Amino acid sequence: MEINPYNVLIDRSGTNAEKYALRTHLFGTDEVRPMWVADMDIATPEYVLEAVKKRLNHPVMGYEIMPDAAYEAQIGWFARHHALIMKRQWLSYSPSVVASLGCAIRALSEEGDEVIVMDPVYPPFYATVKHNRRTLIVHPLRRDAEGVYRFDLDLLASQVTSRTKLLLLCSPHNPLGRVWSRQELEALGAFCLDRGIRIVSDEIHCDLVYAPNRHLPTASLSDALRENTVMLIGPGKTFNMAGFLISTVCIPSEELRERYDAERKRLHWGEGALLSHVAFEAAYARGDAWYAGLMDHLAGNVETIASWASSQNAIGYRKPEGTYLAWLDCRTLGMGDRELRDFFVREARLGLSPGLGFGKEGSGFMRLNFAVPRSVLEEALESMGRAIDGTR
Ligand SMILES: Cc1ncc(COP(=O)(O)O)c(C=O)c1O
Repeated sequence: MEINPYNVLIDRSGTNAEKYALRTHLFGTDEVRPMWVADMDIATPEYVLEAVKKRLNHPVMGYEIMPDAAYEAQIGWFARHHALIMKRQWLSYSPSVVASLGCAIRALSEEGDEVIVMDPVYPPFYATVKHNRRTLIVHPLRRDAEGVYRFDLDLLASQVTSRTKLLLLCSPHNPLGRVWSRQELEALGAFCLDRGIRIVSDEIHCDLVYAPNRHLPTASLSDALRENTVMLIGPGKTFNMAGFLISTVCIPSEELRERYDAERKRLHWGEGALLSHVAFEAAYARGDAWYAGLMDHLAGNVETIASWASSQNAIGYRKPEGTYLAWLDCRTLGMGDRELRDFFVREARLGLSPGLGFGKEGSGFMRLNFAVPRSVLEEALESMGRAIDGTR
């Protein structure tokens, strides 16, 4: 029988995996199933690991450049999967998307300038703005009548000033799982263009999108938006290879690219590590079939959570349009945020990300990472169900 690689149980405890190694520190015990950090408990594709092993057969591990073939592999992937035709000179190496975020903030704004961040969002968005001494404009994302989180451009217009220089966009959105529509992105893009606000678009989750939703790269929407966008992308999420510390930044505008490059050179982060180059190139060049299987698996997990959620009335769940993150509405449990986190640890034995960590709008929510084998997800849902039953 053929083995389904997405359902193979892998023991990561005892490794340096952040998700496991920090359990006691974060949750006070290692007796929890960790479903927080956004990497997958699914093996990095075999063909990527084979490429890395092959490179190890050569005995010299000296300085290396990131080869054009690696960039070309990524360009090919984006052309095939996102209908975005990138040019080689638009791209540069970065050790991580968060590092690129900081570099872009420094390159495209001054100390004291304002940067828009939407709440809730991946926590380093706030931290990177603060660490670089820029001022945060926190724009709340709120649910509409259908329960869909939206930004509000009238409210945003009242929040921005002449010192607002950047918008940090998370597209698709972590933790909400939103895949912004063309209409939404065009409206937001026009808002920024009108006011001279540059967009730094974190698209690290761009491949993890469920049909019929489609990811639209911000830079693909119009010529004007292409020239106004710094796009942050990488294979870390899609191929579960965040530990290779390799991503890229795509900046079509020559002016923005020059400013970004000047800042990047100041940081001296070079061109990355030799095994990462090999992994990156292989992942993008040969990943289509593995990726299709992954998306089938994750889409099945989305449905598994949906049928569990509809079988009990305690946790609100709207299927994510993208990402492998479930945003669980726990407000009917009637607990404070601290109590909620402790409840999941003590009663359900699950280490989830408290919603409040993503911003004020996350209060009463928990984020669950469902990029796990199906049986692991089912066990986690069962223990969550038992814990909830115990409160009734
Ligand atoms: C939206 C978003 N951006 C960036 C990252 C991290 O990217 P990197 O590891 O390349 O810094 C994550 C990881 O969870 C993320 O969700």
